[in-house]
Amino acid sequence: MSRASTNENADHTGGSTPEGWSPDSWRGRLDPQQVRYTDRDAVQRASDKLRSLPPLVTSWEVERLRSEIAQAQAGGRFVLQGGDCAETLADCRGDLVANKLKILLQMSLVLVHGLKAPVTRVGRFAGQYAKPRSSPTETRAVGGAQVTLPSYFGDLVNEAGFSERERAPDPHLMVRGYQHAAMTLNFIRSLVEGGFADIHHPEYWDLRFMEHAGLSDERRAQYRAMSQTLADGLRFMEALGEKSVEDLTRVEFYTSHEGLNLIYESAQTRQVPRKDGWFDLTTHLPWIGERTRALDGAHVEFFRGIRNPVGVKVGPKAEPSEVLELIETLNPSNEPGKLVLISRLGASNVQGALPALVGAVRDAGKRVLWMSDPMHGNGITTDSGVKTRSFDSILEELERVIDVHAEAGTVLGGVHFELTGEDVTECVGGASGVREEDLGLNYASPCDPRLNYAQSLELAFLLSGKLGG
Ligand code: PEP
Ligand code: CO
Repeated sequence: MSRASTNENADHTGGSTPEGWSPDSWRGRLDPQQVRYTDRDAVQRASDKLRSLPPLVTSWEVERLRSEIAQAQAGGRFVLQGGDCAETLADCRGDLVANKLKILLQMSLVLVHGLKAPVTRVGRFAGQYAKPRSSPTETRAVGGAQVTLPSYFGDLVNEAGFSERERAPDPHLMVRGYQHAAMTLNFIRSLVEGGFADIHHPEYWDLRFMEHAGLSDERRAQYRAMSQTLADGLRFMEALGEKSVEDLTRVEFYTSHEGLNLIYESAQTRQVPRKDGWFDLTTHLPWIGERTRALDGAHVEFFRGIRNPVGVKVGPKAEPSEVLELIETLNPSNEPGKLVLISRLGASNVQGALPALVGAVRDAGKRVLWMSDPMHGNGITTDSGVKTRSFDSILEELERVIDVHAEAGTVLGGVHFELTGEDVTECVGGASGVREEDLGLNYASPCDPRLNYAQSLELAFLLSGKLGG
């Protein structure tokens, strides 16, 4: 039996704080990704500072997202989550932030059109600065000698450069991360408030990928027809004049990041007037990664106690019983909108793993939002050692996941992508034709490869066609 289910007084509105939980009750529990800071006083100073700074998001926004997730669970809405694998402090630039927001908004319009349902946009940015690593250290040959240093754990923890100084975990980076998340969010909020006029008109989108010679005539015709009806539909809504397109698409925009560094998360976790419970106000939707979702681990302990909706990545080795225990621990009162399960299986594992997982959750009557992350199970390394993913495997995973949910009578309520609004060459394939030999042209990610602008938009067209089908 899980810890949380021993709480017989569990409030079925989900508002109460679980027994034995506090913002610090995770301390001392197993954390396979624990950051080894050496200067304890500096950690204390950084967390005191974070505690004193205003929250990045509000509890009202968090609650609104929870209710949107509840709608998505029931099939009345779709969630589009996307952004960098590892956001960097240096990428806190107006053009990059605006382009990321643009691609997510454009994709969401394509999805709204295909699904005929509202879409909630969740950025994997404004705080996606902490990265789990498969090894705590990295060894490189430097000047003929083998040098071993701590791995790069993201800009919230240390720096990517390979020197002792850069790789030493620096507690002050938590404050810098907070500041950059705040600057990013400030700009996003202004863009969203001001309306992004050109977003709503596909004639202003960069649709050059549709002209690529590698695209079949059938797909080209399909994409053109979709963008035409989308443009017509938006123009029609505008012509009605009752509500401008900007109003209709006024962005409910939310942020998310992997809640990896619990010192950072707990320092911004607080109670708010006239509401029960504790809110992690660094972001609307924190998630627990595949490597840190152990039932008795620090992350599950921390995230079981907060009022935010919480995501959990679920890889191909997850057993149905394990997933049911996670659900019981993280959402003992079966509250709608609280829990998001993000399957990330790899295209070839979907049929073997997903039916049992979705079947077990369905049969237990548990309310979760199933999302698909078709990125993290489909990583490959080229012969020359470059990490990439193929557009076709990403699409294949999505298609298989959609089919499994359709067969099980369950709802796929969202998708989770690593993407950017830039013209990078990190993933291969798609109509715009990035080949293995092109990967060096503009590979900018410090971590996993992202879909570029054209690949992201094309995927939205394909997904919209399949889901709307
Ligand atoms: C990620 O989302 O970047 C990530 C590390 O994912 P996962 O935990 O699914 O491996
Ligand atoms: Co990643």
